[in-house]
Order: sequence, then C-alpha cells, then structure tokens
Amino acid sequence: MPYILAIESSCDDTSAAILNNDHLLSNVIASQKVHEQYGGVVPELASRAHQQNIVPVVDAAIRNAGIDKSQIDAVAFTRGPGLLGSLLVGVSFAKSFAQALDVPLIEVNHLQAHVLSHFIKDCRTVDESNKATPEFPFLCLLVSGGHTQIILLHSHFEMEILGQTIDDAAGEAIDKAAKIMDLGYPGGPIIDRLAKEGNPDAFTFATPHIPGYDYSFSGIKTSFLYFLRDRLEEDPDFINKNKADLCASIQKCIMGFLLKKFEKAALNNRVRQVAIAGGVSANSYLRDGIQRIGEKHHWKTFIPTLQFCTDNAAMVGIAGYFKYLLNDFADISLPPYTRS
Ligand code: KG4
Ligand code: ZN
Repeated sequence: MPYILAIESSCDDTSAAILNNDHLLSNVIASQKVHEQYGGVVPELASRAHQQNIVPVVDAAIRNAGIDKSQIDAVAFTRGPGLLGSLLVGVSFAKSFAQALDVPLIEVNHLQAHVLSHFIKDCRTVDESNKATPEFPFLCLLVSGGHTQIILLHSHFEMEILGQTIDDAAGEAIDKAAKIMDLGYPGGPIIDRLAKEGNPDAFTFATPHIPGYDYSFSGIKTSFLYFLRDRLEEDPDFINKNKADLCASIQKCIMGFLLKKFEKAALNNRVRQVAIAGGVSANSYLRDGIQRIGEKHHWKTFIPTLQFCTDNAAMVGIAGYFKYLLNDFADISLPPYTRS
C-alpha cells in the first residue's frame, strides 16, 4: 500500500498530489496567471513561478492527504516533455525530497500520465472512487496544448501511436484562433464558453486531407486568418458582431476533424473502448462528440473529469504507481527532457 508523492511542473501549472495505491488523496494545483498578459506562456516567468509555488503546493498536498511526510514511500515526477526551466524545478525538488526521505524516485512521461489519468480512483468523492476504469486494448485521443495523438493502449505502458499531428497541436490551433480574434489566453476555454451562444454552421473552414490517422492544423489556422482578414476589410467590426458564431464554427471544425479520424481509427482497429485525455478533452464539443460516437457504435467511453484534463499531479501519481508495481525506479542523475 505505497503512499506516492507526485510532482508536475512541465509547463505553467505547479501541482503536487498524494496517492495511496491508485487512490487519490489530494491534488493541489497552482495555475500561473502571470502569462495571461503576454498571450502565451513565458518560459522564464513560468520557471520562476514554479520556484515560488513548489514548496507551498507540496506542503498543502501532504496536509490535505492527512498524512505525515515520513509515510511517503516514493516520489514520482514529470521528467518531460515540457519547458526545460519549468521541468528543472519539479525534477530538482523531487530528487532532493526523495533523497531526504531516503525513498525511491519514479520518472514519468507527461503524455503517458495524461492517458493514464483514466485509472485514478478519486477517494475524495464516492462516485469517482468507485468508477470503472478502461480495459485493454483501448484507444485514446490525447489532445493538449503541445500534442495531438491517437494512441492504442495494449497495457499501461505499451502505447502504440497510430497517428499524430504533423504540425500544430489541436490546443495550439484553438489558442491561435482565439489570439487572432483577440479573445485572451488560454483561448481554448474562452472559445468553448463563447461557442455555447453561437451557431456552429455559420461559417465553414476546410480541413486538410492527410493520409492515415495523422492530423494537420496549420492550414485551418491560416484559412481562419485569411477568412477574417477578408471580412474585416468589408466590416471592421466583423469579429465583434459574429464572435459567438465564429467560436462555434472554428470549434466545430477543429473538434469535428479530431473526432472523424479518431472514429475511423477505432473502427479499423476494432476497439470497443475509447477515451479522451489532455487539456483539450475539457472541450464540451469534443466531450459530447465522443459520447455520441461511443453510443452509436456501442463503445464504452471514458471522459476525464475536468480537474484531470488539464495538467495535474494526480495523473503523474497514477503513472508513478503503475511503475512502482513494476519496480521501475529512476536514478537520481536523470536529467529532464524537453521533447517526446
Ligand atoms: O494538457 P494541457 O493542460 O497542457 C499541455 O500539456 O499542453 O493543455 C492545455 C491546452 C491549451 O491549449 C488550452 O487552450 C486547452 O488545453 N484547453 C481547451 C479547453 N480547456 C483547456 N481547449 C478547448 N476547450 C476547452 N474547454
Ligand atoms: Zn499536459
């Protein structure tokens, strides 16, 4: 019954969690607001904010879990991919903490952690602690600010990438669309909220023909940009007048494209269970869409609760727990890595 302290600091969220086996006892997230005014994550500021947040966040996670730090059996941390300056804070902290407690270290890949978030049993609510978890093989659509992948899971760590983006990630595309409309950062949740009042069929944007299960989002972004440039020439107030319809239409275009290929991949690989993960899986169009597809084909569908979509340490903890069971511990000398 190991107690695992997990630490996540790959981008702009400082997070710590405590798990007992696969049961989540606490999950503390400090999101950095400092980047909003710059319209994107500023790596140097992210690193500094992690340094300020890491001690209070870990302290709160241990306190909220109702345990003493001497009970911790292992420390799991995100080793990569992510921003180097951000990763270094979590990695160094995890190493020093594990050394001070004389417990093993477990390195976790951030992308694998997103996918494995479906196995968290959240003890803090009755429904979540008893929820069903996926059975292998299952297909997962991983969509975040940095990655877009269709992954076939044969076991917890046997992840076969069937397709991925050849340029921008889905989250990056939606954030850029928001930036073009000057809506603020991060744009994904803003577009999601505004789209609720809009007509998704008001405008159409072409999606590219990419072979296999790969994606491409840079063309969509460019056609959105040119479309707006032309309309703004006719009416400088075009964005303001059509904001909700524009959000609903670009959201449908990006999420619809994601869903179409994912459905094809699931059908061709004859899976009966499907899941979504990563920050963009918080999107309501995508969540409704996967639910609809699952019902159509009688697939079991796994949609993470919102707290486990965007970056969090609970997902690092569950990945760490499965590695703990495999005795897969990390050497203290391991450096972080920035790319997958
Ligand atoms: O997984 P995540 O927190 O960080 C990375 O590992 O990248 O994902 C962040 C991304 C951002 O692009 C953000 O705009 C997007 O997830 N996102 C959303 C929503 N909430 C977060 N995109 C669309 N709709 C949302 N509701
Ligand atoms: Zn992430």
